[in-house]
Amino acid sequence: MKTTRLLLALLVFTISCNQKTSQTDNVETEKDPHTFSEPDKAVVKHLDLDIKVNFDTKQISGKASWSINNIAKTDHIIFDTKLLEIQKVTVGADEKETKFSFGAVDSILGKPLQIEITDADTLVHIYYTTSKDAGALQWLEPQQTLGKKQPFLFTQSEPILARSWVPSQDGPGIRFTYNATVSVPKELLAVMSAENPQQKNADGVYHFKQTHPIPSYLLALAVGDLAFKPVDERTGVYAEPAMLEKAAWEFADMGKMVTAAEKLYGPYRWGRYDVLVLPPSFPYGGMENPNLTFATPTVIAGDRSLVSLVAHELAHSWSGNLVTNATWNDMWLNEGFTTYFQQRITEAVYGPAEAKMQEVLSRQALTDVVKEKGATSKDTKLKGDYKGRDPDEGSSDIVYDKGYAFLQTIEAAAGREKFDAFLKDYFNTYAFQSRNTEQFVDYLNKELIKGDKALAGKIMVNEWVYQPGIPKNIPPSISEDFTKIDSAIANLRKAPVTGLHQHIKSTNELLYFLSHLPAGLTTGEMVQLDKEFNFTPSGNSEVQAAWYVLAIHHQYHPADAYIEKFLTEVGRRKFLRPLYKEMIKTPDGKAWAQRIYAKARANYHPVSYTTIDELLK
Ligand code: BES
Ligand code: ZN
Repeated sequence: MKTTRLLLALLVFTISCNQKTSQTDNVETEKDPHTFSEPDKAVVKHLDLDIKVNFDTKQISGKASWSINNIAKTDHIIFDTKLLEIQKVTVGADEKETKFSFGAVDSILGKPLQIEITDADTLVHIYYTTSKDAGALQWLEPQQTLGKKQPFLFTQSEPILARSWVPSQDGPGIRFTYNATVSVPKELLAVMSAENPQQKNADGVYHFKQTHPIPSYLLALAVGDLAFKPVDERTGVYAEPAMLEKAAWEFADMGKMVTAAEKLYGPYRWGRYDVLVLPPSFPYGGMENPNLTFATPTVIAGDRSLVSLVAHELAHSWSGNLVTNATWNDMWLNEGFTTYFQQRITEAVYGPAEAKMQEVLSRQALTDVVKEKGATSKDTKLKGDYKGRDPDEGSSDIVYDKGYAFLQTIEAAAGREKFDAFLKDYFNTYAFQSRNTEQFVDYLNKELIKGDKALAGKIMVNEWVYQPGIPKNIPPSISEDFTKIDSAIANLRKAPVTGLHQHIKSTNELLYFLSHLPAGLTTGEMVQLDKEFNFTPSGNSEVQAAWYVLAIHHQYHPADAYIEKFLTEVGRRKFLRPLYKEMIKTPDGKAWAQRIYAKARANYHPVSYTTIDELLK
């Protein structure tokens, strides 16, 4: 008896030692607060998805077959669901029906789906249908597309919306490979975050394969009247036919970007890299779905001035998709690393002056967000705390711009060469794994700082990661190109603005100029500026959004009709929020906002209307 117990203890000890060494560190991992699943007990490994997309009922229905690993030999496995209707659950190759039940519903997380299994079960089939209110899905009427003839569907799964269209263990710490069969109306093409078809087929049934393990938030599907155009051998664009040529021209540098990225941090491991240009209601600028970035058409400016968005989403192929934030409290590991990497790609492809301007604009965004939230707000820490809240709230400029500034600080302290080697090792060591903040800090200490007290003092890891506000060792950030704008603004009220547009031309310059204009412009000054720069009818979405905020603020009515058109056509939340926010500051503005929103809401994705509902309520 005693010896067996001793042997058992020894065995447990050996196993736990092995686990630690295989992790190469012994940092505690916290439970992901945004998934009901218990991946330590029973976890998914592979998905076979077989679904039909029904545009008449605006529902997806079918079967999610999950290969599972019952690690703890438990009698049940838990999945996340949100508003899903579950018809039936079966187990094994012979599909024997099994019992399932739901836990209590949470307004943010949805409902846990608990399925009875045995030790021997390795396969679970879930038959389901999505709700009309599925948070990930936007169903577009033909009028909401460019072609006006066919409907369109796209998904947005990050951060926790995958569970609204696929029953899944919906946490970024859980990875699986997938195959999918998707049946759509014959006139439409389906594409996913996987190896994709390049043209329509006769029967409308498409097959997909993602051979690399991904977390659920990278599950993605789009269905519409889509065509494909290659940019080079490994990159290309998908878009509605009327947008295809423009998109391919705008993104002509995609191949160069991939090559530049590989030169920095190691091989691109996903096969092809394509971009899908969506209709304007897409709620984000871009989404890094593996193999196929989803992008807003509002970056097609006609002059390639907004293509750093592609650099950003491409960079996620390393920071995010390859090495993934373990929970949404670690989102800065995805977005901050990616913003840093994006800047390095921009610098390599477009030169240091361009990168410098974008760096200064990022710094400005950082100062603004810290001011808005308050320098002591816990939501200005890099390590987030979003338990009990929607993790989407954590996607503020803090994770992007403070995360980026932190990595710049490390680069400045250690030197670029050393930091690049460190990052490359980091991506290689943890490829296809998820990491949390503590694990990154541990790796940084072991592999870069290595007990060097002077270096540690220059970096100030603890302040950056766990303290609010902006640490004082943030490296200075100056763009020569912007200094001339500073003087133009200083002289604005002394000299006429005529001719100014010849010196302030590029999108970056215009954005800097707009954000540094003095407060309290008179109507006369607004008229003059608009005459000089033609801001109101600008075709550049970033410039439009910045100018329209000023126009609303200064009650510059010649822009009203343009603002209304913009808010009705564009569903990108980053633009909508500041515009509506500015409008509701006055009673008249609020009434105007509500009038526009009553018409526009139907054009917005759930991600956007959920935010704007909250703002206007
Ligand atoms: N992964 C994000 C989008 C996202 C973040 C969705 C958090 C849901 C929650 C994507 O990579 C991104 O950052 N997009 C930016 C564009 C980028 C150039 C800063 C956007 O959509 O504005
Ligand atoms: Zn991103």
